[in-house]
Amino acid sequence: MNVADASFNRERPDVYGDAHPKALLRTIQEDGDFLLKLSNEHILSSDQFCRDTLKQLFRLAAKYESNPTRFSSPLQGKILISAFYEPSTRTRLSFESAWHRLGGDIMSITDRSTTGIAKGECLEDVAEMFNNYGDCVVLRDNQEESINAMMDTLRIPIINAGNGSDEHPTQAMADLYAIFKWRPELLQAEIAPERKITMGVIGIPSKMRTVRSLLKTLAVFPECFNEIVIIHDAASKADLFAPGQREELAERGLKITLSEDLDAVLPRLDVTYINAIAWEGDGFETYGKIFTLSASSPLKPDGIILHPLARGEELAKDLDNTTHNWYFSQARGAVFVRMALLTCMVQRAERVIDVV
Ligand code: CP
Repeated sequence: MNVADASFNRERPDVYGDAHPKALLRTIQEDGDFLLKLSNEHILSSDQFCRDTLKQLFRLAAKYESNPTRFSSPLQGKILISAFYEPSTRTRLSFESAWHRLGGDIMSITDRSTTGIAKGECLEDVAEMFNNYGDCVVLRDNQEESINAMMDTLRIPIINAGNGSDEHPTQAMADLYAIFKWRPELLQAEIAPERKITMGVIGIPSKMRTVRSLLKTLAVFPECFNEIVIIHDAASKADLFAPGQREELAERGLKITLSEDLDAVLPRLDVTYINAIAWEGDGFETYGKIFTLSASSPLKPDGIILHPLARGEELAKDLDNTTHNWYFSQARGAVFVRMALLTCMVQRAERVIDVV
């Protein structure tokens, strides 16, 4: 299957995030050098991405999204090893969809116990085998250190698709891609003060990999935000920030404030990001049960909601058919962001740069 066969050409209801990828193409000038630098790079953390690299990845993602039939099979002949040792709907399927849409082939592992790891094989030996069998690895592992254990042995690039409670860098890229499609003017050299956004984050930066990576990624573009309000439950026993985390974000230019009252801040939030699940060990904990969003919440009329999903009771389904719903667009856009990143990592960027 290649991009030309993709189902993205079908009509979609307008009510989901009405994204404008073409506006990103107009706003960001192409500079392929930043894409070429991603060749054979391991992707572990959101710390690795500078603003130029993110902008160029978003531009390439917008190019794929706005013209899905234009690019035929740039990954033909390449093999992805998709290793997911923890449950996933979106990340695994969107990475695999991205690779298929680019014309590559996939080997998928969805259970660690079907590999030699179950017989005590060390991760370094598994990584050595991956070198022989594929061209790129996408790894989700509930054990934070597994990706580090494999990186030194791997000669093919690996992407961290969620490692325990640590990071989920490509999710954060998809989150910001959704925000820039919603407000492309945030990428202009000068942002009018009234167009800067106030964003609320319902989640625990110390415990949630999605939130940790998101905040690092937002901190690459601090000029876009008036304020990031972390909405938290004071009764929660979890520490809100890891040691030094808040200070580092402040040093990078994010103005972070705290609130314990969701409904009091909702009317002034342009973007409300909500997540309740934190992966811990072999399972997950649900935090912030006192915070829920529904169609009757006092949302800003033109405010949008993002959620990395999977959702629980914190996000009511009656929001799905409202203009606040950008979480489905966010999940859809992740395919194009991952298409862009994968193309660059496996040294095929030159096949899509300068193609209009
Ligand atoms: N957003 C996200 O990581 O979803 P999955 O757990 O379904 O991959």
